[in-house]
Amino acid sequence: MKIAITGATGFIGRELVRQLERENGIVVFSRNVEKAKSLFPKAEVVAYNPKEGGDWQTKIDGCDGIINLAGAPISQRWTASYKREILESRQIGTRRIVEAIAKASNKPRVLINASAVGYYGTSDTETYTETSAPGSDFLAQVCQAWEKEAEKVREIGVRLVILRLGIVLGKDGGVLAKMITPFRLFAGGPLGSGKQWVSWIHIQDVVGIISQALNNPQLEGVFNATSPNPVTMLQLCQTLGEVLKRPSWLPVPPLALQLLLGEGAQVVLEGQKVLPKRTLEVMRYSYCYPQLKSALEAIFCKGG
Ligand SMILES: NC(=O)c1ccc[n+]([C@@H]2O[C@H](COP(=O)([O-])OP(=O)(O)OC[C@H]3O[C@@H](n4cnc5c(N)ncnc54)[C@H](OP(=O)(O)O)[C@@H]3O)[C@@H](O)[C@H]2O)c1
Repeated sequence: MKIAITGATGFIGRELVRQLERENGIVVFSRNVEKAKSLFPKAEVVAYNPKEGGDWQTKIDGCDGIINLAGAPISQRWTASYKREILESRQIGTRRIVEAIAKASNKPRVLINASAVGYYGTSDTETYTETSAPGSDFLAQVCQAWEKEAEKVREIGVRLVILRLGIVLGKDGGVLAKMITPFRLFAGGPLGSGKQWVSWIHIQDVVGIISQALNNPQLEGVFNATSPNPVTMLQLCQTLGEVLKRPSWLPVPPLALQLLLGEGAQVVLEGQKVLPKRTLEVMRYSYCYPQLKSALEAIFCKGG
């Protein structure tokens, strides 16, 4: 297959390309061509501006599948203008991709679009599955706007898979990379109250779910890309401490995080318990790492 990927230079995208390029031709759409070329010497790299249509859109023509991961990182201080960027990089970025698909004479068979478990809002007590109602906070609104743009691809007869990603665990990025330094310095601990839910997933399972969504033409709609065993922040920190053989005793106070991340601290201070019901029952995905401890051991003890 010939597969186009946006956001390929990011944490998830780098691992995805590494695995997909073994058996497929890869077209990377990037705002940073030099970086993309040095990361992916075997791929075709296309320069693009995700907010504007243009010549780059013609490169979608003839691709078999599109994986849309691009979006401004949310782990930064949320000023009003940065919040707009978080939203527009996803909403307008996805609109331009769907527009490109509509213009293509040889259309891709599938669009796999990222979304996030932030769709459901946050709660210490509720449990969410793919059919749960959306939340109303900022991230929930961003996810709804993002998914709404992707939905339009169905009107032009292209199969759509939306992945509501949980907190992705892997060696070279994401939340874990940020949590690990204090742990190594013997001062790691729960962020905030520790009672908030962390719906995590190992990066290999993200790649596995995307591969299955690409290859199985029966799969359509929303799938939660989370492990079947979410944990609380306290459990995550305790397990991380066990795996790293470091004590987990010093909670990081919410105020310190809020000073650092502003409203963005919400992402780690509040969480949601999400179960991958359709991913298990409809996709019948078999997880490489359903349990947190073996996922963390694979990352820190076995190198991946
Ligand atoms: N990692 C997680 O735990 C997690 C959880 C839930 C949802 N997600 C979602 O999954 C997607 C991929 O996650 P990730 O962790 O791999 O993200 P990432 O490491 O932040 O990479 C995202 C990529 O998006 C592009 N990008 C960055 N800023 C942008 C902007 N302002 N406008 C347009 N494109 C921009 C960049 O690619 P170029 O510079 O090459 O264009 C970047 O490499 C994201 O949309 C994220 O929100 C991730």
